[in-house]
Amino acid sequence: MRAPIVFALDFEERAAAIAAAREVAPAIGMVKVGLELFVGYGPDVVSIGHDAGLPVFLDLKLHDIPETVERAVAQAAKLRARVVTVHASGGRAMLRRAVARAKGTGLDVCAVTVLTSLDEGDLDDLGMGGMHASGDTSRSRTSLAAENLAHMAWEEGVRWFVCSPAEVRFLRARLGPDAILVTPGVRPLGTGGSDDQKRVATPEQAMRDGANWVVVGRPIRDANDRLAAARAIAASIAQAKA
Ligand code: C5P
Repeated sequence: MRAPIVFALDFEERAAAIAAAREVAPAIGMVKVGLELFVGYGPDVVSIGHDAGLPVFLDLKLHDIPETVERAVAQAAKLRARVVTVHASGGRAMLRRAVARAKGTGLDVCAVTVLTSLDEGDLDDLGMGGMHASGDTSRSRTSLAAENLAHMAWEEGVRWFVCSPAEVRFLRARLGPDAILVTPGVRPLGTGGSDDQKRVATPEQAMRDGANWVVVGRPIRDANDRLAAARAIAASIAQAKA
């Protein structure tokens, strides 16, 4: 069984991404190809994962009219990506059609809820601030909005979700055991600062809170020995699950 680690290929240069994917492949379960490589080099970058023998989490965060997203999902399936991300805030029809088009292709649709770069003030500006349920101020409105968006996506057939370590237990409780929760913003103990991630947890804690996968970028990418760094994270997750 491969480790439930998605390694984020956040590289400016394609050659560097290829080398890093090959290097850490034995210790991880998937690579994440995001907008940087995709915009820079085109859809062919998905093959970086396949050439390293790994499924590809294609992080395009699609958000458009249902017809356009459905057609983009069809193209992602042709690229043999394993997962493609869409914004839950694209609405029910967009989500429904994305899921319908992915069905039977080997591709799954993964919903992004509220970007962790947004705070409550941003949500108010967007008209998505909502309100605290009576008296329940124990959770941020951002977290409640994320849970509501995830639930809506679930109702439209989405089964994969990206969520922060702060939200993973709420989503698990709301969506049940069949949801697949993918959690970025994790930092292994002893790897120094949190970079620009504001709320971080260790990979072990994220898994204990209900994550199925953790997304790890810089703690592996910037390590002197990337394979050793990935193996250490895999070992700590295995221990947490045991
Ligand atoms: O380097 P680091 O481990 O922070 O990388 C995390 C990866 O997950 C990056 O590719 C980042 O864009 C992505 N991500 C995130 N937070 C989110 C969603 C995605 O850090 N809420």
